[in-house]
Amino acid sequence: MEIIHVSAECYPYAKAGGLGDVVGALPKYQNKLGHIAKVVIPMYNTKFLHENEFDVVHKGGFGMAHYWFNYTVIKEATNVLGFDLYLIDIFNLLDREKIYGYDDDIERFTAFQIAVVDWISKWEHKPDVVHVHDHQAALIPFMMQNCVAYRNLSSLPTVLTIHNAQYQGWMDWNKSSYLPEWDKWKWGLLEWNKTINSLASGVRCASKVTTVSPGYLNELKYNANGLEMLFEYEKGKCVGILNGIDEEVWDPATDTYIETQYSVEDADEGKALNKKILCDQFGLDEKKPLIIFIGRLVGEKAADLLPQAISDSLYYINGGMNFLILGSGDPSVEYQLQQLNGKFMGYYNSQIGYNEKLAHQMYAGADFLLMPSRVEPCGLNQMYAMRYGTIPIVRRTGGLNDTVKDIGEKDGYGICFNQATVGDITNSVYRAVQLYSQKKNITNIRKQIMQIDFSWENSAGKYLGIYQTI
Ligand code: GLC
Repeated sequence: MEIIHVSAECYPYAKAGGLGDVVGALPKYQNKLGHIAKVVIPMYNTKFLHENEFDVVHKGGFGMAHYWFNYTVIKEATNVLGFDLYLIDIFNLLDREKIYGYDDDIERFTAFQIAVVDWISKWEHKPDVVHVHDHQAALIPFMMQNCVAYRNLSSLPTVLTIHNAQYQGWMDWNKSSYLPEWDKWKWGLLEWNKTINSLASGVRCASKVTTVSPGYLNELKYNANGLEMLFEYEKGKCVGILNGIDEEVWDPATDTYIETQYSVEDADEGKALNKKILCDQFGLDEKKPLIIFIGRLVGEKAADLLPQAISDSLYYINGGMNFLILGSGDPSVEYQLQQLNGKFMGYYNSQIGYNEKLAHQMYAGADFLLMPSRVEPCGLNQMYAMRYGTIPIVRRTGGLNDTVKDIGEKDGYGICFNQATVGDITNSVYRAVQLYSQKKNITNIRKQIMQIDFSWENSAGKYLGIYQTI
């Protein structure tokens, strides 16, 4: 089968979050299973672009309202990623340093999607399935089916994977002229609540819709940022497939980002050495449990609760643990977290920004990873952590609930709580500190979680099963 994935992100070329990790791994595993999976994303101006070679494979152009855009499709020349990576270059529009965050993001991603559809319509042999990811690619099924110029794509099967339904790609109706000429009586396929809603359109038009965990799919029926009714109505075509992790990238036995490599047999020693490096670097106490948070500092991740929860934990549990934070996001949360650096010196530190190498070192050196997320469609960090023997402390939601079992249950290996509140977090931190004092238990849990199979093989096969049905 030939599959083309369309996304805004693909690791290592462009990553802002988990979407990039998934689109950088899934195609590789689909290829390993004997299929041809390709990826197309916008050409941003990133380091990867300058360090690798690309060939021009197609040039074209299209009108968008009263603008004309020329685009070039380039292909990475040496298959360094384990799949063919194609980039859409649109001068002055896509070739920027950041992936998102510009005032004209609507124009940028609409143009990207038109270019992709235009390009695929010119392929001599069509792919078997067009697999689009999140709202930045979710207008593609509509365009393939309803745009006059692309009628030759109207019967091609499409899959939409939702990594996060909080963001939906809303567009004012006055921008409907951006789309290439389309059958106007089909407007209902674009609309939700008086605006064009790219994600809702994708859910309606795609042949199948997947979410990145089964638990998240169930949640969407009552918590989908306004699209609850739609998910209830379209439930027949929706399937939850848990993400995997790229076990070639995330393996403590071979990871070159970390100071000391280790495996299940020498996990305690390996982790202790990595912990010492981290504690020395950040002025923390290696004898106490080290709890980390890695992620975007936004409401969805409940990062706003961290400053209070950390302060309370350090006061009430009497400095019985260390915290280390890595992330960026909401400026007021960043500020508060940085303020704590001075207040709790020796027990706490934070690094604002994102640093792939440090993230790996933190998974290797930490004892616990905290994820109090209000919304977590899958969550990859808890799986990375477990692969590195770091015990997850998670709120029971979405993919976190699907992947972590509380130590109070039979064969449990993590710490789970119900509410995204300061109280539930501090209570869980307390449980973690107690668990840490039971050395034998910790050793056993580490060994257990490092061996859980979170590999892509399984999930990659499930996607292929979905393609077969359409
Ligand atoms: C988004 C979700 C996250 C998920 C990731 C990859 O970033 O917030 O939960 O793991 O996509 O699917």
